[in-house]
Amino acid sequence: MRSASTLPVILALLAVLLPSALLVDATAAPSLSRVVIGVDGGTESIRACCFDAESGKVIGQPCAVPYDTHHPVAGWAEQDPADWYQNLGQAVQGAVRSIPTDYPHEICALAMDTTCCSVVALDANDEPLRPSLLWMDQRSAPQTTEIMERCKGDPALSVNCGGEGPLSAEWMTPKALWIRQNEPAVWEAAATICEYQDYLNYKLTGVMCASSCNAASRWHWDGDQCIMTTGKHPGRPLSLYETLGIPELAEKLPQKCLALGSLVGGLTSKAASHLGLPVDVPIIQGGPDAFVGMIGLGCIYPGQLCLITGSSHLHCVVSSKPTTAQGTWGAYRGAPLPGINFAEGGQSSTGSIIRWARILFGGDASYKELDAEAAAIPPGSDGLVALETFQGSRTPVTDPLARGALMGLTLSHTRAHIWRALMEAVCFGTRACVEALGLAGHECDEIIIAGGATRSDLWLQMHADISGKPIVVCENADAPALGCAILASVGVGIHDSVQEAVRAMVRTERRVEPNPETVETYSNLYKSVYSKVAQAARPIAHALSEFRNQQAATAVTESVVLAVRGGAATGSSPIVSPSLLGCDWSIVKEEVHRCIQVGADRFHVDIFDGVFLDSPNALTFGPQMVDAIRRSCDSAASLGPNGGNATLDLHVCVDRPARYILPMARAGANRFIFQWEAMGSLDTAMGVAQQVVNAGMKCGISLNPETSVNEIYPLLQAGLLDVVDLLAVEPGFGGQMFQRIVLEKIRTLKHWREKAALTFDIMVDGGVNDTTVGEITRAGADILVSGSFLFMHPKGIQGGMEALKGTRAIQRSKLTTQSK
Ligand code: DX5
Ligand code: ZN
Repeated sequence: MRSASTLPVILALLAVLLPSALLVDATAAPSLSRVVIGVDGGTESIRACCFDAESGKVIGQPCAVPYDTHHPVAGWAEQDPADWYQNLGQAVQGAVRSIPTDYPHEICALAMDTTCCSVVALDANDEPLRPSLLWMDQRSAPQTTEIMERCKGDPALSVNCGGEGPLSAEWMTPKALWIRQNEPAVWEAAATICEYQDYLNYKLTGVMCASSCNAASRWHWDGDQCIMTTGKHPGRPLSLYETLGIPELAEKLPQKCLALGSLVGGLTSKAASHLGLPVDVPIIQGGPDAFVGMIGLGCIYPGQLCLITGSSHLHCVVSSKPTTAQGTWGAYRGAPLPGINFAEGGQSSTGSIIRWARILFGGDASYKELDAEAAAIPPGSDGLVALETFQGSRTPVTDPLARGALMGLTLSHTRAHIWRALMEAVCFGTRACVEALGLAGHECDEIIIAGGATRSDLWLQMHADISGKPIVVCENADAPALGCAILASVGVGIHDSVQEAVRAMVRTERRVEPNPETVETYSNLYKSVYSKVAQAARPIAHALSEFRNQQAATAVTESVVLAVRGGAATGSSPIVSPSLLGCDWSIVKEEVHRCIQVGADRFHVDIFDGVFLDSPNALTFGPQMVDAIRRSCDSAASLGPNGGNATLDLHVCVDRPARYILPMARAGANRFIFQWEAMGSLDTAMGVAQQVVNAGMKCGISLNPETSVNEIYPLLQAGLLDVVDLLAVEPGFGGQMFQRIVLEKIRTLKHWREKAALTFDIMVDGGVNDTTVGEITRAGADILVSGSFLFMHPKGIQGGMEALKGTRAIQRSKLTTQSK
């Protein structure tokens, strides 16, 4: 680590080591470059990055340190505040250490952005009373409804779609109310309720204060008023707290509120040694990651809209007027900066549907190739129009039941048409959000775009042509960290104002102008087709949902049938998947053929290297053997009802599974199910899952009997998993006893799948036989992996299969159904 105080020592050393000719200036006062540190406290990790305080140039390397998220109950998400502080120290030290040694500098200030609204409750000694309720935590959903009902008409709620709602469970008021109602002891003991941002600022400076941007955008506060120092609780929604019976919340939330870019305080000596920085380095107020990102994109003037793209789209428009309206969130007064306001719109599924389509098309064509194919098709996709609302609609119409659609399909349409139609649909949806914001008084004349969409020229042009607005792409894609650097440099007077700092530190990379001809074509299509399809589809999506609910209610486990092609998540009868670990390996080809003859079309292949399992018995085989099994399947084309279409699920319980992804894909595997316990972190697992998908296979994860399903919830949410393999026996051997602990896990996974509209299969692996099959089926498993029972059945594989789909399971399930 290098800081200003070590510099003289280093210069003196250089003077000894280097020829004097090189050091002509060393005798003059060294001119130190001024460096500010931007810290981005995200959902997965905390990242620090050093910037030149004048130009905004990145100095050295950003340093990220991941932390864990816990999901004790489906829909809940918690982090440990101690991890935030611990990792902040490592991240800052790492970033500062990466500053080149030939770059004499001084650290002038630090500012942070964090996830919003991640809530912390502190006792009288400022120690956390419980883990933080992370921004994405949904436990307070019932409180959002309660607040909207009990407080209808309260002016504070007008930022929630003009007072019509909905209110999001992410916000401070519902989260605080949840604590009050569910953990009264915590509520009682909580001297302070604050956010991630406030907690870290406090740990660094000893000053407890709120950020006006968090308060304006997620706390129902007036961001201009709340920074006033006069009056008791200025800008706080006191009537809201009163009606909810929690007037004391006004006392528990930070009393002081600071605008972005103002001084929080100097680094205490304890924090200074934790961060490896000099004492008293000024800590400058930041705010929510996305909205500090607006500043990092230079989106601070009324009429500018910042479009953050990823798996979803977020639209934030800066406005001179704080008006509120249905179909928009905000405008938040005094946010992100004093004197201006911003309003929000959002689309739930955008980048995610493009990714979905690529995987659906087989995953072998790259984004660039698919774009090139789609670029050859005229605007309007030759009569094909799509709806992008696969995961519901956020704005302008809030409808969680909205669904996607493709309208106008003919036999001449190709995948390129579908690709293009989906891209266009996302842009049409953006136009609808932008229009609603405009109607609410928040007009925009340019769109500054950040995130994944900037990687596609075709899509950027489409955004311009469909919105009719120029699209601006900035040079530094790391907008939140740069936003922090801007605030830090303004906070210590290196730049006089945020406006001036933005001029000096934010650079435009390119500007995509709308093409007037295409604008008109798209405008006609938007009005005459897209809007109409969206409107007409709404009641249909509701009817579909109703239908699915009824179907789920009447579904009874009638029987276990063999191999229904195409994923079991949609059906109600489990597939039996033979586990080849239990077969006679001297005649593996014959065993495969026998299975196919009785209708099996999905084989389970256990790949164990024994390293992770630490057992000499748990060593199986590699790609050559998988290739042999593949060929055994292929040579059975004429044998079974499903012929050579059998799929191979690899259960890869090895150390560093990523090494085997490509060899196994080449050997003909269809699914790559890796062992969760072999992963060091969630990040690693995400990375492996992504590589599996990129290699064109479906991805699954396998859990040991004692591992809780809560651990993999984020992976499920990310939509990367096709199957969860619940081991009902210790990994490594066939023929063990079934552990009933998995039954509860099946039910939990099923519950999540419905709640979050996910589509993975639940597989039970090991100990499946004629006595356990009924219970497993009733709990809701989709795929039953059976080895020893099937292959060692006295009446052969056919006998084993019949026993698994036999009458006992049916009779028992019928009895249970009737007795209820
Ligand atoms: C267990 C394996 C299972 C095994 C199941 O470690 O993952 O796939 O083959 O075998 P049976 O059905 O014999 O319990
Ligand atoms: Zn297995």
